[in-house]
Amino acid sequence: MPDLRFDQRVCVVTGAGGGLGRSHALELARRGAKVLVNDLGGSLDGTGASTRAAQRVVDEITALGGEAAANYDSVATPRGGQAVIDAALAAFGRVDVLVNNAGILRDKAFHKMDQSMVDAVIDVHLKGAFYVTQPAFRLMREQGYGRIISTSSASGLFGNFGQANYGAAKAGLAGLTRVLAIEGAGHGIKANAIAPIAATRMTEDLLGELASRVTPETVSPIVAYLAHEDCAVNGNVYSVAGGRVARIVMVETSGVVLPEVTAEAFRDQVNEIEQPGAHGYYEPGSLDAETTIIAKALAEAS
Ligand SMILES: NC(=O)c1ccc[n+]([C@@H]2O[C@H](COP(=O)([O-])OP(=O)(O)OC[C@H]3O[C@@H](n4cnc5c(N)ncnc54)[C@H](O)[C@@H]3O)[C@@H](O)[C@H]2O)c1
Repeated sequence: MPDLRFDQRVCVVTGAGGGLGRSHALELARRGAKVLVNDLGGSLDGTGASTRAAQRVVDEITALGGEAAANYDSVATPRGGQAVIDAALAAFGRVDVLVNNAGILRDKAFHKMDQSMVDAVIDVHLKGAFYVTQPAFRLMREQGYGRIISTSSASGLFGNFGQANYGAAKAGLAGLTRVLAIEGAGHGIKANAIAPIAATRMTEDLLGELASRVTPETVSPIVAYLAHEDCAVNGNVYSVAGGRVARIVMVETSGVVLPEVTAEAFRDQVNEIEQPGAHGYYEPGSLDAETTIIAKALAEAS
């Protein structure tokens, strides 16, 4: 099988001035892509800005013989999101791949979290993905081709203390990915997400011995596959860390149909509802599929 190449493809990577985004940008460029390296260049909590981070990665790519352009807009406003995509168009004339990667942290126990912590984190991760993806998605629909990879997190999909803002935003990105996969399917667009764990400034001091194994470079090849024309999956979320890759799925138990819908009937069956049940777990591919499962269960019970 030939290597996965990106010659003539234009890839936009947000937050690509360091950490995972830098690694994704280098991996895609190494495979022949023209890369728009976006980064606001601020600190981990989202304050400050600098052109240095993005420019440094562009210089790295260029030094390796690749092609890249820098952009310093924040993804956290509609104007910024449009400017990121416009910069890719100005530099390279098209957009084939978008990697939503930009992110910040403002951790705090929920009862102490103030509004600015909620707004800043949701603005960058979740709304930021909307702001950049929408102009990109419109172009992709027109050209009948596109790949979108968003960065979710185990924090949102499984839960993590002190990250209500971040977890909610990251779970939202998994939801956005599902909908984009459905809306893009008829237009040659595929949308998938990763929930990575990697040693970056975001996880400094958190990973212990794992840090040396879970480098960003062990995540980017999976992003490259999801970004490629040959990508055979759509709407999936992958746990990716240190070479271990798993699919994270949203499933439901077989459930029960309550003979009488009362709080007491639910109490009496709550344990049974938690079990996989006769059909095992269902994995509805969409709201329509879920509605069909419900209609069938109700019909069978009546
Ligand atoms: N490192 C991990 O273990 C881990 C785990 C789960 C998810 N993630 C996610 O992976 C992504 C990359 O994180 P990382 O670990 O490489 O951290 P990082 O801090 O090194 O990278 C994030 C980058 O995003 C940029 N950025 C922040 N706000 C921006 C904005 N408004 N516009 C444009 N750029 C902006 C930052 O300047 C930074 O370079 C994030 O979305 C993060 O939430 C990381």
